[in-house]
Amino acid sequence: MPAVVIIGAQWGDEGKGKATDLLGSRIDYVVKFNGGNNAGHTVVVGDEKYALHLLPSGILTEGVVPVIANGVVIDIEVLFDEIDALNARGVDTSKLVVSANAHVITQYHRTLDKVTERFLGSRQIGTTGRGIGPSYADKINRVGIRIQDLFDENILRQKVEGALHSKNQLLVKLYNRRAITVDEIVDDLLSYAERLRPMVADTGLLLNQALDAGKTVVFEGGQATMLDVDHGTYPFVTSSNSTAGGASTGSGIGPGRIDRVIGIVKAYTTRVGAGPFPTELLDESGEWLRARGFEFGTTTGRPRRTGWYDAPVARYAARINGITDFVMTKLDVLTGLKEIPVCVAYEVDGERVEEIPVSQTDFHHAVPIYENFPGWSEDISGARVFEDLPKNAQDYVLAVEAISGSRISAIGVGPDREAIVARHDLLD
Ligand code: GDP
Ligand code: IMO
Ligand code: MG
Repeated sequence: MPAVVIIGAQWGDEGKGKATDLLGSRIDYVVKFNGGNNAGHTVVVGDEKYALHLLPSGILTEGVVPVIANGVVIDIEVLFDEIDALNARGVDTSKLVVSANAHVITQYHRTLDKVTERFLGSRQIGTTGRGIGPSYADKINRVGIRIQDLFDENILRQKVEGALHSKNQLLVKLYNRRAITVDEIVDDLLSYAERLRPMVADTGLLLNQALDAGKTVVFEGGQATMLDVDHGTYPFVTSSNSTAGGASTGSGIGPGRIDRVIGIVKAYTTRVGAGPFPTELLDESGEWLRARGFEFGTTTGRPRRTGWYDAPVARYAARINGITDFVMTKLDVLTGLKEIPVCVAYEVDGERVEEIPVSQTDFHHAVPIYENFPGWSEDISGARVFEDLPKNAQDYVLAVEAISGSRISAIGVGPDREAIVARHDLLD
């Protein structure tokens, strides 16, 4: 005990750092197992606000060993920029370990991400443009570049040649872009090799040994269940497995080693980019949630789409991930509403359905069926135990808990890492 997985249970930006903060000094290792710098984590510590993309938010917890595992795609320039920015603010990153098997994001991945999106026109996914999809596509196509390739120039050159062969045809003939030379990519990657070398290790071995020694390892997912390439709203998803199973393949620990799966949900819902979102609010309520919750992307600054809480989505997440506990964030944002609607089921073609329809077309057309709960007007940001919350806020949490598929063990009541109401021990 214990390996703890933390994942987003909606469409991302749930405030995944809140659960890491709650575990605090009990954590020995924190592992990023999927995604790359498409993630955006804002963590507020006292007067300091940190925006992290490639590094797990747990890096801000003193004493932990941060690990970037094999399932991640790494833009090395971004990695060093983020490390330098944290060091400049006095955050120690010297323990960071990077998997030799993680794949890299290069210039041609970033370029391809942007041009393919442009060519999709109205069918755009609204990616973050960071080269995530093309890098994972190369991994699956077996033409990817891994961190370990940076330490063998001969192999690196051969692999870059192999990857660029077809990409330059695409870039020049289809997308009307300039060809990228093997030298510019190889020189760029080699320029990072020596700085990177001391951080690189067999992270699968390291993490298994840590678990054998009884250490607490937190696997911090990027993105979220509904953005998972298998279980999300495909094709409007990211290109990795951002569900709990990804923690196993993305880090090299056996699935049986995972003890707890903590799903993070907002007290309402947001989404960035295109794709179905049944409870989306396109009226002034949506604007109100966006302004109150400050719902603008940490990575791209885009306004987030906003909507009410969707219980079928939470139940789906509970099921797909085996969620043992939910942490509900941003309950404070709902303060001041007279009534709070919660989606309890959908109507699809005139029929009530309780779960997410398997057909994407049906999900696109699903109309939420709402139940309304009475709101509260008291400031809840100082609440630290459940009884501190006004009765209506307690009832909202209990009602949502009863239909979401797992217990709600903690509740976020403000952006600060201390602003949390703990109900049940996340490790118990
Ligand atoms: P992540 O992608 O899951 O790490 O989440 P983001 O950092 O993208 O978005 C969550 C935002 O909500 C951040 O700006 C957090 O500071 C903020 N936040 C987290 N928990 C709470 C909470 O309980 N209340 C409020 N008001 N803000 C919160
Ligand atoms: P965190 O970790 C919210 C979305 C993008 C786009 C789709 C594919 O902060 O929760 P990609 O660049 O990954 O190929 O984009 O996924 N997306 C996110 N939305 N939070 C994120 O991360 C996201 N990472 C990717 O907006 O719709
Ligand atoms: Mg985010």
